[in-house]
Amino acid sequence: MTTQQKIDFSKEGGSAPVELVNGFKPFFESKSGAIFHADSLEVLKSVPDNSVNLVFTSPPYALHFKKEYGNVSQKDYVEWFVDFAREIKRILTEDGSFVLNIGGSWNPGEPTRSIYHFKLVIALVEELGFRLAQETFWYNPAKMPVPAQWVTVKRVRVKDSIEYVFWFSKGPNPKADNRQVLRPYGKDMLRLAAKGVKTTVRPSGHNINESFDKIHNGGSIPPNFIDDDTPTDLLKMGNNSANDVYTKKCKELGVKIHPARFPAQLPEFFIKMLTQEGDIVLDPFGGSMTTGYVAENLNRRWIGIDNVEEYLDGAKFRFE
Ligand SMILES: C[S@@+](CC[C@H](N)C(=O)[O-])C[C@H]1O[C@@H](n2cnc3c(N)ncnc32)[C@H](O)[C@@H]1O
Repeated sequence: MTTQQKIDFSKEGGSAPVELVNGFKPFFESKSGAIFHADSLEVLKSVPDNSVNLVFTSPPYALHFKKEYGNVSQKDYVEWFVDFAREIKRILTEDGSFVLNIGGSWNPGEPTRSIYHFKLVIALVEELGFRLAQETFWYNPAKMPVPAQWVTVKRVRVKDSIEYVFWFSKGPNPKADNRQVLRPYGKDMLRLAAKGVKTTVRPSGHNINESFDKIHNGGSIPPNFIDDDTPTDLLKMGNNSANDVYTKKCKELGVKIHPARFPAQLPEFFIKMLTQEGDIVLDPFGGSMTTGYVAENLNRRWIGIDNVEEYLDGAKFRFE
C-alpha cells in the first residue's frame, strides 16, 4: 500500500489515526490515539507505507526468566523479531525513526551474557537496511539483582542496571532536534559561563574555543542515557510513580497492573526529540500504553497495540 493519508487536525493534537489501521476495530479511542487488541504483526501489515513518524517500543525480551506474557527464546529471537521490524521499516516515513528498548540477558547455566540483542542490531542494519542513528541507554536501578546464583549467592557478577535503547532510522537523516530535550545547565557550566571561555587545548587534544560558550542556547545538550536526571514535563504531573492514576485505578477496580511498564521519561525523551505536534507515533507492544499516554499529552497522534486484553482494560484509565 502506498496511500498518502489525509490527516485531520481539526481536534487539538489531531484525531485518533484509526484510518491508518485497515480491517481492525479499535479497542479504545482517545482524543488523539487508538488502542488495538490484536497481534501487532497483523495490525502492522494493514498500515500504509511511509505513514508513521516514530515507532517506539519495548517488546518482550529474550529473558532467562519467563514473563507472564511470554518470551521468545534467545535462539529464535532474531528470526521472530525481524518479521515485525520489516513491517516497521515499511510503514515509517522516509525521515522516521524506530526506537527499540531491549534488555540484555544471561546465558543459561553460566555467568556470561547473551549477545542476542547485538545479533538483532546486526540483522536490523545488515539484513533490513535500518541505520543505527545512535545507541542510547536507560539507567534502571530498580532491576532485580539476578541471576541470584551469580549476583547474590556466589557474588561473581554485579547488578545489571542498564537497558539498551537503540535508535534506528529509515534513512541517514531522520527528523531530530536535540533542542527539544535540553537539560538545565550544571553548576560547572554556569561557573564557566560566568568566567567566560578561554581558548585552550585540552590534554585530550580537543580545542576549546568561544564556540563552547553556548550558555545562552537554552540548556545543555543531553547525554545518550536516560535516568532520573532526565528532565520531564509529564513526571512533574505525578503520573509515573506507584501512586499514579493508572496504578491507583487498577488497584481500586481490581484490574491487572502491567508487570513491565517503562517510565514515561523514555518515550517522552524520544517523542519530543524525534517528532512534532500532529505527528504519528506507534507502539506495537504497547502493554499499559505508556507510549500512547505520553504521545497524547504531547499532542501527537498515536496507535498502540497489544494482544493481552487485560492489560488494555487498565490502559484505558490513562486516558480518562
Ligand atoms: C515489555 S511489555 C511492554 C510494556 C509497555 N512498554 C508499558 O509501558 O506498559 C511487552 C508487551 O508486548 C505484548 N506482546 C507480546 N507479543 C505481542 C504481539 N505479537 N502482538 C501484540 N502485543 C504483543 C505483551 O502482551 C506485553 O504487554
